[in-house]
Amino acid sequence: MPTHTMRAVRLHEHGGPEVLRLDEVPIPEPGPGEVLVRVHAVGVNPPDWYLRGGLTSVPGTDSTISLPVIPGTDVSGVVEAVAADVDGLAVGDEVFGLLRFPGFDGSAYAEYVAAPASDLARKPAGIDHVHAAGAPMAGLTAWQYLIEVGHDHPSPFQEARHRPTALGAGTTVLINGAAGGVGHFAVQLAKWKGARVIAVASGAHAAFLSDLGADRFIDYTKSRPEELVQDVDLVLDTVGGPHSSRLLRTLKHGGALFPVFPGEYDDEETAKLGVTVSIAQVRSNGAQLAELGRLLDAGTVRVAIDSTFPLAHARAAHERATRGHLQGKIVLTVA
Ligand SMILES: NC(=O)c1ccc[n+]([C@@H]2O[C@H](COP(=O)([O-])OP(=O)(O)OC[C@H]3O[C@@H](n4cnc5c(N)ncnc54)[C@H](OP(=O)(O)O)[C@@H]3O)[C@@H](O)[C@H]2O)c1
Repeated sequence: MPTHTMRAVRLHEHGGPEVLRLDEVPIPEPGPGEVLVRVHAVGVNPPDWYLRGGLTSVPGTDSTISLPVIPGTDVSGVVEAVAADVDGLAVGDEVFGLLRFPGFDGSAYAEYVAAPASDLARKPAGIDHVHAAGAPMAGLTAWQYLIEVGHDHPSPFQEARHRPTALGAGTTVLINGAAGGVGHFAVQLAKWKGARVIAVASGAHAAFLSDLGADRFIDYTKSRPEELVQDVDLVLDTVGGPHSSRLLRTLKHGGALFPVFPGEYDDEETAKLGVTVSIAQVRSNGAQLAELGRLLDAGTVRVAIDSTFPLAHARAAHERATRGHLQGKIVLTVA
């Protein structure tokens, strides 16, 4: 049984990686619909450093943050206690999940977390906690963009409902930022669906992306994808930013661009090219994670680990993220 306190990383103020502080805090009580998870590993994601830096609300939610707060959304661990109203999970079960997202109350950077049972899936037996913790947010983002949205919540970014493009033999997908957390899952899910994949990343990731099944690799430090590629069915752009509209030119008439990170697109230009732009927001979904888990268990999809750090060194994990060029996921080890 746990003692009454645990170690957790908290923010007492917003700022750089140095504001991540290891504290001794009470172990949370699972509320209705929740289980208490003894955390073995925590996946690190961009919202963790957005929160650290001072963002206090997620578009489309009412959640506001008061400090101190425990950051983090992605966990893998073992069920330690179960609320009376939870069916289907028992003490000792190995689980992984994206907790309470969108929202900033995942509280995953800790030895224990109270987790909504509906956000969890059974950890695939064939992978360890470190790899499982790397999957939830990035894997569900790729899943909800490419395979199935899986929820009825309107996106805070657009009125129209996001609709994945049907992928199969004969479709070509260009993935920008292909080596990162979302990108490396997207490459593998598009290949699983039978699509041809063009991966765009910096040159150091060429062999990695070829191993994951990419059919073609473009090093964006040497060439511009929009000058080399045309007639693509779908672009998934995890990079976005001010120059993102250039990738519209790689699409065929009727094609779609899915920005994972918002970019700047001109309605007139998209209309002229006959293409669409659609952005979604990832949401916690234990049932979809279970589907992804089956692919992870079978080895159809794998989680690449960029680096691991002990929970107490969360600052170093965030410093690694700041340097960029991630290949897969950063994970904190706990137990
Ligand atoms: N809409 C949503 O719900 C949602 C969900 C999850 C994530 N996101 C957002 O999506 C973005 C990506 O998340 P992530 O977790 O995948 O990040 P990540 O793991 O940091 O990956 C980003 C990748 O982009 C590559 N990159 C950087 N500049 C590039 C460029 N100019 N061209 C091509 N590749 C470039 C980086 O490596 P190299 O430069 O070495 O290739 C890195 O591998 C974040 O901004 C995040 O906030 C949105």
